[in-house]
Amino acid sequence: MAERAPIAVVGAGYVGLVTAAGFAELGSAVHCVDIDHEKVALLQAGQVPIYEPGLQELLARNRERLRFSSELGDALAGAQLVFVAVGTPPTHSGDADLSAVHAVVESVCSAQGPSAQGRHALVMKSTVPCGTGAAIGRLLGDRRNGSIAYVSCPEFLREGSAVEDFMHPDRVVIGDAGDWAGDAVLELYRPLLERAGARGGRTLVRTDVASAEMIKLAANAFLATKISFINEIANVCEETGADVLEVARGMGLDRRIGADFLSAGIGYGGSCFTKDVSALKLLAGNSGYHFQLLSAVIEVNELQKRRVVTKIERHLGALAGSRIALLGLAFKPNTDDMRGAASVVLASRLLSEGAHVSAYDPVASTHARELLPAVTYAPSALDALEGAEAAILVTEWPELVALDWHAAAERMRGRLVIDGRNALDPQRVQAAGLTYEGIGRGGSAAAQRAGASASAATGAARATSLAHAAARR
Ligand SMILES: NC(=O)c1ccc[n+]([C@@H]2O[C@H](COP(=O)([O-])OP(=O)(O)OC[C@H]3O[C@@H](n4cnc5c(N)ncnc54)[C@H](O)[C@@H]3O)[C@@H](O)[C@H]2O)c1
Repeated sequence: MAERAPIAVVGAGYVGLVTAAGFAELGSAVHCVDIDHEKVALLQAGQVPIYEPGLQELLARNRERLRFSSELGDALAGAQLVFVAVGTPPTHSGDADLSAVHAVVESVCSAQGPSAQGRHALVMKSTVPCGTGAAIGRLLGDRRNGSIAYVSCPEFLREGSAVEDFMHPDRVVIGDAGDWAGDAVLELYRPLLERAGARGGRTLVRTDVASAEMIKLAANAFLATKISFINEIANVCEETGADVLEVARGMGLDRRIGADFLSAGIGYGGSCFTKDVSALKLLAGNSGYHFQLLSAVIEVNELQKRRVVTKIERHLGALAGSRIALLGLAFKPNTDDMRGAASVVLASRLLSEGAHVSAYDPVASTHARELLPAVTYAPSALDALEGAEAAILVTEWPELVALDWHAAAERMRGRLVIDGRNALDPQRVQAAGLTYEGIGRGGSAAAQRAGASASAATGAARATSLAHAAARR
């Protein structure tokens, strides 16, 4: 393998670790720096502090090329390109909190020693508001007289498939001043771009810094808009007898629309969509423009998480004293990330209605415990369902989608199953004598047909469930 530029990566989270491991796999020596000493100690000991499929193996395979520490100065001595992948969570006002980014800029500017003082470029992987690069560029000019360049290189990986996304990006966006730094970043990504080119992909967008920053925010806001749009369509389907799965299929076949992100459910979550949509809305507002559409996108998403509670109340009546099981807690399958997860709002609403909430998630329970201490955590899905009047599929983990619903029905006290992700087969659920309700599917001919065949079996059970509910009222 040809010699490749060594790099530094600041921030060993979902983005930083995958970036570090990915570039090490492509042949670079990578020094990954994090201020979290516990995280660094785990990584030095060969352990991975987050759950991300394929990451453990990638890190292990490239152990020789990877170094972890909390010493930014050392990292700067060995690398010109410094990838910044620190968190940019929302502030109380909803704007992006750039304090971690500013701390890194400050540390780089004030790093001592001849090699730390040499030519460097900050390559921004963190998602930052449009205008951040220009402001940092001015600061770097003042403090280091132009010896530190700035490149915006927004990240588009998805948790749960981050390694795959790094290795096979849809596109690589490089925003820079057209100088050595942008060329050097392009050189690092070249093997991935060539691979994509060989597959007929056109994946490089080389542009100015502000446009690169806006591409990231606009892409996430558009995806969130698509989700809120299909969720509103689902809600109208429930009123009008259409099946949102059929509607989405018919819509998605139009190439102008595309089939992705047309899955109705209980709302988007995760660290990125929630904060990036809010950050873009406020960025517009702070610049004097009222971004009306995003206000609606956010509101629809918040209401969507709460609609599930109304659905359950329609079946069970008041929820005080009832037991509701949440199947899945992470904001999506294949991750332990609980940031912005719909389960947090849902569980909190159920608890405030006086329900007991039990839950199971294959990997996210540890993080969930910190956010939702009043929830009872079960070691398996069936254990979570023990004595539950209703179950809600919150995260479509494969093992939950494939659940044995006959065994589930035996453990449950009530009959209601709400499919918050439209991921279950209604007929399999109904065949176990359970009542299936999805999102936007209530009035569909298909659901009604399936419902008719199962209603005889569920009738007696539902009566028991309603009797329990009536007793609680
Ligand atoms: N998670 C995603 O799916 C995803 C995808 C695309 C873009 N992004 C963006 O990438 C950025 C990082 O996201 P993440 O999910 O990896 O965050 P994370 O919270 O998982 O990781 C951030 C890491 O940065 C470290 N850190 C904070 N301040 C530091 C400092 N001054 N010096 C060194 N390390 C420091 C933290 O200790 C933490 O380990 C965010 O801006 C996010 O919006 C995230």
